[in-house]
Amino acid sequence: MDTVLSGIRSTGNLHLGNYFGAVKNFVKMQHENRCFFFVADYHSLTTHPTPENLHNNIRVVLSEYLAAGLDPEVATIYIQSDVPEIPELYLLLNMNAYVGELERTTTFKDKIRKQPENINAGLLTYPVLMCADIIIHNADKVPVGKDQEQNLEMARRFARRFNHMYGVEYFTMPEPYNFGSELVKVPGLDGTGKMGKSEGNGIYLSDEPKMIRKKVMRAVTDTGPQEPNSPMSEPVANLFYLLELLSTPDTVEHFRASYNDCTIRYGDLKKQLAEEMITFTTPIRERIQEIYNDTAYLGKVVKMGAEKARESASKTVREVREIIGYKPF
Ligand code: ADP
Ligand code: TRP
Repeated sequence: MDTVLSGIRSTGNLHLGNYFGAVKNFVKMQHENRCFFFVADYHSLTTHPTPENLHNNIRVVLSEYLAAGLDPEVATIYIQSDVPEIPELYLLLNMNAYVGELERTTTFKDKIRKQPENINAGLLTYPVLMCADIIIHNADKVPVGKDQEQNLEMARRFARRFNHMYGVEYFTMPEPYNFGSELVKVPGLDGTGKMGKSEGNGIYLSDEPKMIRKKVMRAVTDTGPQEPNSPMSEPVANLFYLLELLSTPDTVEHFRASYNDCTIRYGDLKKQLAEEMITFTTPIRERIQEIYNDTAYLGKVVKMGAEKARESASKTVREVREIIGYKPF
């Protein structure tokens, strides 16, 4: 049995990229593995430092996880800030993480470009906190999207360094994971790049059908194939990518054939895509509402999750302290 763990920052609603990059794999794996799934609310402070929406954002992400199919009876679902052992391990790992390597991380360089007015130390040590999240439960597999590959590499590096420095084989090496295939990068509807909250190009699990149609009909395309079997431009390939995630192989084949013989009408492709998205998100959206409004249920879920997570985390921190050399008098 593997230990599987993943987290999502509480900075807004879940979109299809979050679902297909992380949540879906987790939903599939939760019954056969030891699973942890958490809301990374400390990580969100690196970009969203103001308290106004903090609590509600956590509630939104938690409700959306549960609505998407995470089962709190089988998986351990918790809020990062409910587990004080995580910041303790983060502190200890920070002593063996070097400023130079942190400054060279792509995600750090991206973030400081995006928010030059707030280059905080939390951004710099983001991969260290993420490492603590992962190795505190000795996770083997981490279902994430492709954008998290480098953070996972850093997590392995810090875990390996700990083992090496203290001459132990204590932490396992966590691997990024996607069920049966490559890590995914779900594209947005704006032609290039990934779907993301900060990119403002997402289809959210909570979007109403009308909103989905509007967003999809506005998606960027091109002037259409000029000759049979011509290569696809990135915006059109992205629409096909999304259709493949959501639709049946027959439907995808139909549109591919019409692209290849130049009879395709992008309007039809978009309509189909929008309807597939609506079919997929509607049952989830309805559950989100119910769960979001059920304060007693949410309270029970996070209490149970925090207890289970702390049991596992406190054992690790106790052992780590011993390995480093802290002893009682
Ligand atoms: P966002 O990138 O929208 O701010 P997060 O950074 O909180 O979302 O990402 C949470 C999880 O969702 C991570 O595992 C991340 O890899 C995954 N993810 C986010 N966007 C995508 C995407 N477009 N394709 C695949 N996975 C994604
Ligand atoms: N950094 C991840 C993201 O932006 C969120 C995250 C925090 C995470 N801690 C984690 C993901 C641990 C997997 C495991 O998407």
